[in-house]
Amino acid sequence: MLRVRDLCTWFPIHSGWRGRITGHIKAVDEVSFQVEKGSTVGLVGESGSGKSTIARTLLKLYSPGQALIRGEAIFQGREILALNEEQFRPMRRDIQMVFQDPFGSLNPRQSVASILGEPLEIHCPAMTKVDRRDRSVEMLKQVGLPADAIDRFPHEFSGGQRQRIGIARALAVQAKFLILDEPVSALDVSVQAQIVNLLQDLQASLDLTYLFIGHDLAVIEHLCDHVLVMHRGKLVESGTKEQIYGDPRDEYTRTLLAAASNGGMTASLRSE
Ligand SMILES: Nc1ncnc2c1ncn2[C@@H]1O[C@H](COP(=O)(O)OP(=O)(O)OP(=O)(O)O)[C@@H](O)[C@H]1O
Ligand SMILES: [Mg+2]
Repeated sequence: MLRVRDLCTWFPIHSGWRGRITGHIKAVDEVSFQVEKGSTVGLVGESGSGKSTIARTLLKLYSPGQALIRGEAIFQGREILALNEEQFRPMRRDIQMVFQDPFGSLNPRQSVASILGEPLEIHCPAMTKVDRRDRSVEMLKQVGLPADAIDRFPHEFSGGQRQRIGIARALAVQAKFLILDEPVSALDVSVQAQIVNLLQDLQASLDLTYLFIGHDLAVIEHLCDHVLVMHRGKLVESGTKEQIYGDPRDEYTRTLLAAASNGGMTASLRSE
């Protein structure tokens, strides 16, 4: 589904009164990995290691002046990094992102109908307003929310419910590939488990592929088939879940695993 080769995302450092570029922050540096269709790949690493930058680069959220991007990202057989916005627009439907903070990523003045209807309006122009509403209600049911949520506003929901709305929005346009950037990190432990279980159910029923960014190694172990370990912009280790957890090769991976406490939410996750 996705093959990334030698991906670099460098942010220019400007200094002096003329704002000359005097260097770069190598937020992502020569990173290569692939994501098989139907699988879940976990991306872990400490804060600032470049995880979100990978996500934002793949979604082409940086303007040309904002970041220097090099390398290759082939999504469903097509190189996407070199595409301009117009060429990439139809593919935005297939790659969607779910963010850590559902409150920050949902417009508080928009009703759920409008939050879920907006991507449909963009990507499915043939749909009528009634079609969009029907589809949105169907999505709400799929993520475990009642149909009457459609006319409510983000502040009327709990954190977990808001994250369900964020997931419904990503899936409304029938996305195939979701990049989940710490989707449960802001939630209570018991709610985290519900959302993790929902993501697994949706993956099975809708044949989804996930790139799951997180720092909770118990969640990553539960969800992922493959794990990528980032450290200061570099991919220091990648392998199957069994290899990474059972036989970590890299020193940094070992430190990360040693530091993790695998209590807490493991118990509330459904066993497979
Ligand atoms: N738009 C930007 N301009 C300049 N530097 C940036 C920008 N975005 C990120 N960075 C820098 O790139 C590095 C990687 O940041 P990134 O947000 O990808 O880390 P992360 O692994 O997602 O961390 P966290 O776990 O805290 O979310 C950091 O040093 C950050 O300061
Ligand atoms: Mg991040």
